[in-house]
Amino acid sequence: MEEGRVKERLSSISHVLSVISGKGGVGKSTVSVNLSYSLAKKGFKVGLMDADITGPNLPKLLGIENLEPEVIEKEIIPLEREGVKVISIGLLTHRDSPIIWRGPLRSKAIIQFISDVRWGKLDFLVVDLPPGTGDEAITTMQVLKPEVSLVVTTPQDLSLLDARKALNMSKYLKIKVIGVIENMSFLRCPNCGERIEIFGKGGGMKLAKEFGVEYLGEVPFDLEARKMSDLGRIPVLESPNTEFSEKFNQISDRIIQIVS
Ligand SMILES: Nc1ncnc2c1ncn2[C@@H]1O[C@H](COP(=O)(O)OP(=O)(O)O)[C@@H](O)[C@H]1O
Ligand SMILES: [Mg+2]
Repeated sequence: MEEGRVKERLSSISHVLSVISGKGGVGKSTVSVNLSYSLAKKGFKVGLMDADITGPNLPKLLGIENLEPEVIEKEIIPLEREGVKVISIGLLTHRDSPIIWRGPLRSKAIIQFISDVRWGKLDFLVVDLPPGTGDEAITTMQVLKPEVSLVVTTPQDLSLLDARKALNMSKYLKIKVIGVIENMSFLRCPNCGERIEIFGKGGGMKLAKEFGVEYLGEVPFDLEARKMSDLGRIPVLESPNTEFSEKFNQISDRIIQIVS
């Protein structure tokens, strides 16, 4: 029954794009945010949904953690930040009975959450999924049935191993992965401009080849971007000409190409 509601809910959205990762901390939320704003800057109507119940950090990244979304006729109205509609499961947890956020009910809570948000018409809905390959990630994927997905990894062996599991999960669920993004790939030396490859090299590309998906490229480790994110500021909007932001603009171009 809820699946029917989800379907109806998503019918006004042209493209659902989910962002997945094998584990937390690799930059899934950073990628979700900066891609969303990159798409919005190109004139698309974008919604950004934080369905990561394990660590809903979008409110902090966007500086909206103290805002409370309105609920009208049992529908959750997304907040709006710089033209992007945003909702996070983290903005709602405090108002519900805590029991629902435990154990198997967590998957149910995610489905409920997805079916309750009033998005209106959107070109893209970017979804920051729960990390890993556990129940929550699987249920969310099954219910949401995203048209396309992106896998975020770092070049570290462990992260790549987990990303491989996430790719296998997508394959099993028949969700189309359009590509792998390697985040925090390298640090650009501020003095000589050379790439410092902190965690090694080539892992993301190898992974993409192994699964026959596109390698969407490397996002550098960007100190300014990290500082901005901590303050709820959005790098692709505030410093559009950095290597970091340009990479997101390239990736969003590619996404637009792929879905159209
Ligand atoms: N390319 C990057 N450059 C600098 N800092 C980054 C980058 N990607 C992510 N971070 C930082 O790493 C931390 C984890 O990123 P986050 O997007 O929250 O990961 P996840 O959502 O996968 O748990 C955050 O502090 C974020 O600002
Ligand atoms: Mg996150």
